[in-house]
Amino acid sequence: MMHEPGIPDHLTPLKMACPQRLDGRWQSDHHDDGYRGGGNARQEIEAVFHRACRLDELFENHISVVAELGFGAGLSILETIRRFRQVASPTARLCLVSCEKFPIHPNAFKEMLMHDGADPNLVSALIDQWPIHVGGWHRLSFLEGRVHLTLGLGDATDLLPTMNFKADAWFLDGFSPAKNPDLWTPEVLKMVTDRSATGARLGTWCSAGDVRRTLTELGWLVERVPGHGTKRHRTEAHRSGATPRRSSPGTIHIAGAGFAGAGAARAFAERGWSVTVFDTKGPAMGASGNPRSLVQPRLAKGLDAASHLHLHAALFAARQMDQLGVSSIPGALHLGVGHHAEKVEAALSHKGLPATLIRAVDEDEASKLAGCRVGPGAWFASARTVSGPEYVAALLDHGNITICLEEPTMPGCEDTPLVWCTGSSAVNALELSGLHQIRGQLEILKPIPWLNHAVCFGHYLLPAEDSVVLGASYDHGDFDSSVRNDTAQASLELAQRALPGVPMHRTGGRTSFRLASRDRLPLLGPDPQRGFWCSLAHGSRGASTGPFLGAFLADCMEGLPAALPSIYVDRLRVGRFKS
Ligand SMILES: Cc1cc2nc3c(=O)[nH]c(=O)nc-3n(C[C@H](O)[C@H](O)[C@H](O)COP(=O)(O)OP(=O)(O)OC[C@H]3O[C@@H](n4cnc5c(N)ncnc54)[C@H](O)[C@@H]3O)c2cc1C
Ligand SMILES: C[S@@+](CC[C@H](N)C(=O)[O-])C[C@H]1O[C@@H](n2cnc3c(N)ncnc32)[C@H](O)[C@@H]1O
Repeated sequence: MMHEPGIPDHLTPLKMACPQRLDGRWQSDHHDDGYRGGGNARQEIEAVFHRACRLDELFENHISVVAELGFGAGLSILETIRRFRQVASPTARLCLVSCEKFPIHPNAFKEMLMHDGADPNLVSALIDQWPIHVGGWHRLSFLEGRVHLTLGLGDATDLLPTMNFKADAWFLDGFSPAKNPDLWTPEVLKMVTDRSATGARLGTWCSAGDVRRTLTELGWLVERVPGHGTKRHRTEAHRSGATPRRSSPGTIHIAGAGFAGAGAARAFAERGWSVTVFDTKGPAMGASGNPRSLVQPRLAKGLDAASHLHLHAALFAARQMDQLGVSSIPGALHLGVGHHAEKVEAALSHKGLPATLIRAVDEDEASKLAGCRVGPGAWFASARTVSGPEYVAALLDHGNITICLEEPTMPGCEDTPLVWCTGSSAVNALELSGLHQIRGQLEILKPIPWLNHAVCFGHYLLPAEDSVVLGASYDHGDFDSSVRNDTAQASLELAQRALPGVPMHRTGGRTSFRLASRDRLPLLGPDPQRGFWCSLAHGSRGASTGPFLGAFLADCMEGLPAALPSIYVDRLRVGRFKS
């Protein structure tokens, strides 16, 4: 399997943990050790992490970054959010980072958290957005976006090297070095150190001599202090210097109100920025205005940058739609027909992935789902059919966002950065190399009564309230914006071949244009030549990459832990194509 360096493995199934309650402690089935020291878990977290890292003082800053090794049941992270909510000002923000190699099923961690006295509202918020168990970094958000958790599922030793950030505080919460040596090696402690800001503080229940010695060699000022509960000692450490002052949110201008512009606007607005979105035509008038779009992962044979991005973007968008209350229809049936067979086969070649992500369906089940006799295929349970205009409207519905039906002033200035998210029109306006427009025509059909999820066969059928959307054509070098009969005919023939006997009555159509790049990855980041930022070339995946990369862009501009591995800064770089 091809593996691009810097991309976490999202295709190898994760092993789960099933903690058991033994002798008054939650015991791990992988490490033969307790998740907490015994006694009152919340008091232990307060002493060992919160007071050691002087969180109350830290939370006086308007942005704090707190990182942890060993998410476990999430109690230390939820307690940190609870403390932040109690002591921080209402405009302060908190970025959390944590890693977990053996995730626990939500039903099990709910029981652990409730038993240990976690805040029930935070427990529900965690469960509501708990990610599907695939490897990589998942972005969760709490307290209306004031708190972000960047949660890495997989081995911390593989994940940390993929992410650059500077934490103000670290909780080292692995099991004991004797039972969980991989989380305490000099290499891991070096990774922690490299990801620590000046003045950073570190707390751990562990007082092992080797750990303290290594931390000292890495430049930490280390203290062995009296332990909590039955532990004789624990460790506190800090780095010299003052905690960095991170810049405050300002104003930002965004050109274009499609998935890319609205997604970026939402991300900045939630971070406290004052956002103006400029669009001469109004929201969702370009490709994002299609009556239905499909949000779903693409699982390629290897671990490449595009499939990792598309998987995590789709999972992010699904969580965001739920949080924003955007209605969507779950599930997509993929049929192994024509050219599409290869993609279905590639997706199904990864054994053991969670069924909530993808599973094989045999001929009978596929036929039931399709409403006619078809061959076997794949069921993408995590896919969502959504109305583009509804998703865009929900993204823009935030008190910090103003919409302006005009062109923005060019270029942006240092005080008010400008982000260019103008979809396909950028190809002519900016003359960027490596980009091309692709025409796409959708057909609107009369409702198909039993069709209550997406069906994909190269094209797709997407259910809508009072219609079905069939699409989409993929017409290179065709700049005709009208809705054409020849395109409609070709789409209908393809659909009838894939779903024989299913009645399809066309009532209309819509044409719009994708913007795609030569390497099929979007363009994101600063455009030094033009003095503004870009989120462009979302190809055929903009309903998920638009909102997701909006969050990534905001993280990068603020220099905070990012929603995607650091390698994407370069992989998505504007100006990477030479003409
Ligand atoms: C037929 C078809 C079907 C598709 N199906 C899917 C799907 O199922 N799932 C999926 O994920 N993706 C799908 N895509 C791709 C997806 O629609 C796009 O990737 C996405 O809409 C791109 O979003 P955007 O915000 O970059 O651009 P757009 O949605 O095109 O928005 C650009 C906006 O910029 C505005 N604008 C232009 N110039 C200026 C200017 N100078 N100043 C201010 N504003 C300006 C425009 O008015 C427009 O509102 C499909 C695309 C097509 C064409
Ligand atoms: C003591 S528990 C953490 C408890 C957690 N902080 C809480 O509040 O519930 C240690 C955790 O580290 C995880 N872990 C062990 N080795 C790991 C590794 N190499 N990478 C990531 N996580 C690891 C374990 O699976 C376990 O969940």
